[in-house]
Amino acid sequence: MYCERVLSGMRPTGALHLGHYHGVLANWTRLQHEYPCLFFVADWHALTTQYDDPRHIQKNIIDMVVDWLAAGVDPAQAILFVQSHVPEHAEFHLLLSMMTPLAWLERVPTYKDQQEKLSGKDLTTYGFLGYPLLQAADILIYRASKVPVGEDQIPHVEFSREIARRFNYLFGREPDFEEKTREAIRKMGSKKARHYEELRVRYQQEGEREAIDQAHALLDDVQHLSVADRERLFGYLEGSGKMILAEPDALLTEASKMPGLDGQKMSKSYANTIALREAPDSVAKKIRAMPTDPARVRRSDPGDPQKCPVWQLHQIYSDDACRAWVKQGCHDAGIGCLECKQPVIDGILQELAPMRERAQYYEADVNLVRNILAEGSEKARDMARETMRDVREAMGVALD
Ligand code: TRP
Ligand code: SF4
Repeated sequence: MYCERVLSGMRPTGALHLGHYHGVLANWTRLQHEYPCLFFVADWHALTTQYDDPRHIQKNIIDMVVDWLAAGVDPAQAILFVQSHVPEHAEFHLLLSMMTPLAWLERVPTYKDQQEKLSGKDLTTYGFLGYPLLQAADILIYRASKVPVGEDQIPHVEFSREIARRFNYLFGREPDFEEKTREAIRKMGSKKARHYEELRVRYQQEGEREAIDQAHALLDDVQHLSVADRERLFGYLEGSGKMILAEPDALLTEASKMPGLDGQKMSKSYANTIALREAPDSVAKKIRAMPTDPARVRRSDPGDPQKCPVWQLHQIYSDDACRAWVKQGCHDAGIGCLECKQPVIDGILQELAPMRERAQYYEADVNLVRNILAEGSEKARDMARETMRDVREAMGVALD
């Protein structure tokens, strides 16, 4: 019914590193050739946790998008935009909030987790509780069918599915709605089913308001109905007849295999990163300073690559022949650690060279980036407006 559309967002955290590249951006650059893609900066989401210090958000947006472009995300293929440039997200978030049970938000696992993790900050705010609903608005407003995210974000995509489903039950219909509804009516038992049908006809043909009140009372009285069936039966009474929002699927992005300089996962909070725009001499310096197998105190001491974080980087940047050379040379102290690190330095520099070049092009004229985002935001807005027309109509919020 809807064409496949990929959408993903990132909070503006500033300059990105190799972990982001291997985890997310390489995936985006692949997807942009396969599907219509929308990639956006979730700047309002950043405010949910940084509301007390928002000064860096603007600069972080530009820095992050320069890195997207540097990594090969192509504005001729994908639509790049900023969440706050498409204010329809906020209107949609508001309208969805009317039908979102508080309990659904409270039980999203990231709510309690993040509050505990960022315990120095008051996150008992309205905005933070609504984080997943804002994300649902981001996704559903483009009727995106695929949402590439890491594992931590799966509950948010699940939540978006539930919101879409609830919206459709309340204000529209699913494709096999008739069939499922007939099945649900049968489950009521023949007497109540007949009564239900009568009341529905009275409401739909004669417009009798009391008929619908009676039907609601009748449904409240029926036991053993699933929530879904109950919503179908409520929806069928009023029957608007259209599936308005698409249920998105998460497209699980495999966790980045990129190890950091200390062998732990590469992450800003571990201070073990190499930035996508790291200067070549800084890359070399960082790799040369990496810890190695502690057994290799002197050049003549043999070592074991399994005990060395540099070996993990060889898994990413070296070929079989090089790895065989490392194994042998490490075990029999045939090579020194600095020698061993050189192919890794070369591999990283080779990977980063085209990124640096593209980044320099955009750094030289930041307006290029602003224009890409302005154009992308216009395109995104057209799509968002289309959905909002249907949403307003379905919810009975006229805007003419
Ligand atoms: N919450 C996501 C994150 O922290 C960012 C995000 C916001 C997002 N809106 C989205 C991701 C919509 C995918 C789709 O990574
Ligand atoms: Fe690590 Fe290479 Fe030194 Fe062995 S030779 S300890 S693998 S850096």
